[in-house]
Amino acid sequence: MMTTKNQYKTFSIPTSLYPFYATSVLTKSEKPAYEIDISSLIPKDIKKDLKENDIKLDIPKTKVFIKFNKEKNLYEYIMVEPVIGRKTFNIYMNLLSVIERNLLSKSKHIELGKILMEIAEEDSEVFEDENMTTLSEPYKKAMYYVVRNLFGYNIITPLLFDTNLEDISINGINEPLYVYHKNYEYIPTNIILKRRIELFGMKIDGSKILDELVLRFTSLSNKTISIANPMIDGVLPAGDRVAATFRMEVSPKGSSLVIRRFPENPLTILDLINSNTLSPEVAAYLWYALDQRMPFMVIGLTGSGKTTLLGALLNLVKPSWKIITIEDIPEINIAQDNWIQLVARPVYGELGKEVSLMDLLKLSLRYRPDMIVVGEIRGEEAYVLFQAISTGHGGATTFHAYDSKSAIQRLLNEPLNIPREWIPTMNLIIDVRRMSLPSKNKVTLRRRIFAIDEVVSVDELRRTVSWDPKEDKHNIDYNSMVVLRRITAEIGIDFEQVKEELERRSEFLRLLASSKKLTSTKESYRLLKKYIIMYSGDPDVALKEARKLSK
Ligand SMILES: Nc1ncnc2c1ncn2[C@@H]1O[C@H](COP(=O)(O)OP(=O)(O)OP(=O)(O)O)[C@@H](O)[C@H]1O
Ligand SMILES: [Mg+2]
Repeated sequence: MMTTKNQYKTFSIPTSLYPFYATSVLTKSEKPAYEIDISSLIPKDIKKDLKENDIKLDIPKTKVFIKFNKEKNLYEYIMVEPVIGRKTFNIYMNLLSVIERNLLSKSKHIELGKILMEIAEEDSEVFEDENMTTLSEPYKKAMYYVVRNLFGYNIITPLLFDTNLEDISINGINEPLYVYHKNYEYIPTNIILKRRIELFGMKIDGSKILDELVLRFTSLSNKTISIANPMIDGVLPAGDRVAATFRMEVSPKGSSLVIRRFPENPLTILDLINSNTLSPEVAAYLWYALDQRMPFMVIGLTGSGKTTLLGALLNLVKPSWKIITIEDIPEINIAQDNWIQLVARPVYGELGKEVSLMDLLKLSLRYRPDMIVVGEIRGEEAYVLFQAISTGHGGATTFHAYDSKSAIQRLLNEPLNIPREWIPTMNLIIDVRRMSLPSKNKVTLRRRIFAIDEVVSVDELRRTVSWDPKEDKHNIDYNSMVVLRRITAEIGIDFEQVKEELERRSEFLRLLASSKKLTSTKESYRLLKKYIIMYSGDPDVALKEARKLSK
């Protein structure tokens, strides 16, 4: 073996490369809930290099167990990475130093294939087979950490690849890291950054790993964080949101970091139908109301799915419409051609001026949009949005509120001060909620449209949709659709026709929702748009096509 026992005691490597890993006392026979593959981190040219040398890298997968902890009465997220023994550790350290040398030479990228062949000249245990194509177990394990640390984000890398997680939250040093799991809400993990971490004599302060992660994510979001300015809120290149605090300036437990994942493929109205967030009938109603330019507002508490529903509905907008979205953080992603996306920005350096939602909203009125969408109303932009709607613009937004009554109260009062007469210009209030529902002797989280109200006047709401918790289904009341009835009557459509159209649309959506192609691929939301365009051209043809789909 080329390495001696204590060779690395004094060897220092960058914090980001420290091979800190998560393990657990689980027995080997237990089956993980699922596994995570981080190999897509490997850059293309390195993959090419490996291929040229005929080497398969298959690094191990990270295992995830979700266990109920009876004592604490909660679920725990247990991440298990390959265990590093002395041998793997030495291999890892050696790989790093050879890689470093390779980078210092003139090579453009890490010539991993060449490096492995080179090491194999001295160490007969690099490969498992004589053809030198498959790495031996210890090398696979060591490569796992090379990939994780060199191209990823140390111990949180696998979490970033777990598509079940909506966010990842590091609350400080010596605290378990929390994840927000689709089915379990916030649950603790077995990952704890301790003050003292030690691996084979190599000691590190976990807060260094944490600070380093904060610095990296901050710079990735094009911001800076420091003792002088210890707090950031930003967006990562892939659209994920990041918020962080630095060291102990404002967070006594040390740096904190929250990464909120941006869903890769936006959930479409079909996904929401399939997960029973709403029924095809309710979706048809909202789609039709949207076509009638009825302004709407999605309300609910934090994380209830407001922005998701707003985005899904916007994807149903007529192709001929011009949409402007105005947001603090770009979240809405729609397949509309005539779409202007505006994003507010904070004060920029010393000279740059702040551009607020309000500034953008005022500007957008000059762009002659068919529909103005404000991601979320919180301050003075609420007034401008209502003003725009009350002068005949189409509009939509989300608003943080428990239910429609309290939403209206908040709109009327300080600091928003929306005039009473403007309230009914927001024709629809859609109330979304996140609830725990029992299913197969375990409780899981579900998001549901809880109610939809048509706003007749500031004191008169008509409930057109209500969710029945016993049956977990949506009841729709056509008789209460007084605002829709008034609006359609004004253009000479009688309500029987409206109902027929709603039925046709719900049939159409039901068919689309049962198609695999439209619900399970990356391109689903774009494909859905094609069908919506088809429908707006000729509903009967579109319906025929939809029937073909589901066969
Ligand atoms: N109907 C749904 N079914 C499954 N997952 C959903 C649903 N709606 C939203 N989600 C997921 O829940 C998370 C939060 O959703 P979203 O951002 O839409 O909530 P929000 O109410 O706008 O939150 P905030 O109050 O922070 O603005 C996202 O990760 C999203 O993918
Ligand atoms: Mg939101």
